[in-house]
Amino acid sequence: VNDEFLGPLVGAVDQGTSSTRFLVFNSKTAELLSHHQVELKQQFPKEGWVEQDPDEILQSVYECIERTCEKLTELNIDISAIKAIGVSNQRETTVVWDKYTGEPLYNAVVWLDLRTQGTVETLSKRIPGNNNFVKSKTGLPLSTYFSAVKLHWILENVRDVKQAVEEERALFGTIDSWLIWSLTGGPNGGVHCTDVTNASRTMLFNIHSLEWDIELCEFFEIPMTILPNIRSSSEIYGLMKAGALEGVPLSGCLGDQSAALVGQMCFQDGQAKNTYGTGCFLLCNTGQKCVFSDHGLLTTVAYKLGRDKPVCYALEGSVAIAGAVVRWLRDNLGIIESSEEIENLAKEAGTSYGCYFVPAFSGLYAPYWEPSARGIICGLTQFTNKQHIAFAALEAVCFQTREILDAMNKDCGIPLSHLQVDGGMTNNKILMQLQADILCIPVVKPSMPETTALGAAMAAGAAEGVGVWSLEPEDLSAVTMERFEPQINEEESEIRYATWKKAVQKSMGWATG
Ligand code: G3P
Repeated sequence: VNDEFLGPLVGAVDQGTSSTRFLVFNSKTAELLSHHQVELKQQFPKEGWVEQDPDEILQSVYECIERTCEKLTELNIDISAIKAIGVSNQRETTVVWDKYTGEPLYNAVVWLDLRTQGTVETLSKRIPGNNNFVKSKTGLPLSTYFSAVKLHWILENVRDVKQAVEEERALFGTIDSWLIWSLTGGPNGGVHCTDVTNASRTMLFNIHSLEWDIELCEFFEIPMTILPNIRSSSEIYGLMKAGALEGVPLSGCLGDQSAALVGQMCFQDGQAKNTYGTGCFLLCNTGQKCVFSDHGLLTTVAYKLGRDKPVCYALEGSVAIAGAVVRWLRDNLGIIESSEEIENLAKEAGTSYGCYFVPAFSGLYAPYWEPSARGIICGLTQFTNKQHIAFAALEAVCFQTREILDAMNKDCGIPLSHLQVDGGMTNNKILMQLQADILCIPVVKPSMPETTALGAAMAAGAAEGVGVWSLEPEDLSAVTMERFEPQINEEESEIRYATWKKAVQKSMGWATG
């Protein structure tokens, strides 16, 4: 194999909550040539707290890049054919570091973290009921989920950070900023930037003007000097400073859910995708219109693929716990040894036998936005076994998706005729069939499920000055899909869904009760 035959290649960092990956695609065919994945640790220092080590995240990116390059070389693929790199990342997770040493000043506070529940309650009281400027400017409800409250907490509680801010040494970023700054040189010329999709999850960003918002920064008491520069999702931010791909431009950046929307080619108004990662996120493209939800969905920036390109928005249904419930069954209960085993367990059960599992480990996100909810497993009898619990865990992912799909259908007026899905959990055929049964519409999955990485690679390859990937509709190759048709009748599905809702009600208010 040689690079002339393959054409230019594009790499993508896919930095998720559970793992980091680096993938390399052929820009002419979108074929995935090689990849490497590293699982990441999560730390739970107190009940409800979720942290990660920013250095471990950075090192995992370097390791994935190096190993993927070695694998390509073993395949006789010349790595000098890699012309650009895109970054997609877990969103909202908050990092503060020292710009002179490059050292993180505190662990990354992960999006799932609940320590700011009290901060949110206090701040909510300061928002006038008749003028919710936070919602109207950001498209987001005040919640523990977004970066501004996490950063507010860090600035109040971490002495090293306070001092670094006073001494003008501190920089803030979501994971994209931390990675791009570090990969482009860190203290030696690293570029401090973020893209509009990631910025739209901080709660400091005005989604109409596409700028940091002074009023919001004052409200959350965040000094604007520590914020990254805002860029589009597709432009050259800087060059890789070290490693096997030194000198290659970093030229694409999208929050992972936006990247999946691009990778699923949802460029038209009304096109939607649901990604099953640590959490589960249904995004529907609303084009250049900023649509506000009446049913608990978020308004967010979908993408802006070039400095002079228009911004597109999306409505988003966010579910905090999807793949994370499988990891919990593995790491906390030990009823499976690997995540893949859940499929066989659930298959053996074939049903949950009336057992319902609401995995509200981080409260409930859309459509409830209820931080006081906590996880429950109910409907247990002496007959219940681990197979039933495994089945109920998978069903929970599907019921949560049903809730956000219902909200999306109400907001959009035109119900989705099928659901486009992607993400690691979609390899689980039992889950996909259950999903079709619970939604009563077909579920369709691309044969190449790495759509998040593909979206980041497309953005990087299409950037001005790179130009190895065309985003013109006629050049985008049609994606082959696998389809799951609903197999149970609607009535049966509705009964199960109604019982799920009863279980959700029982999970509410637990943390305050
Ligand atoms: O908003 C959080 C989201 O970006 C996390 O994505 O892939 O880690 O579930 P993931």
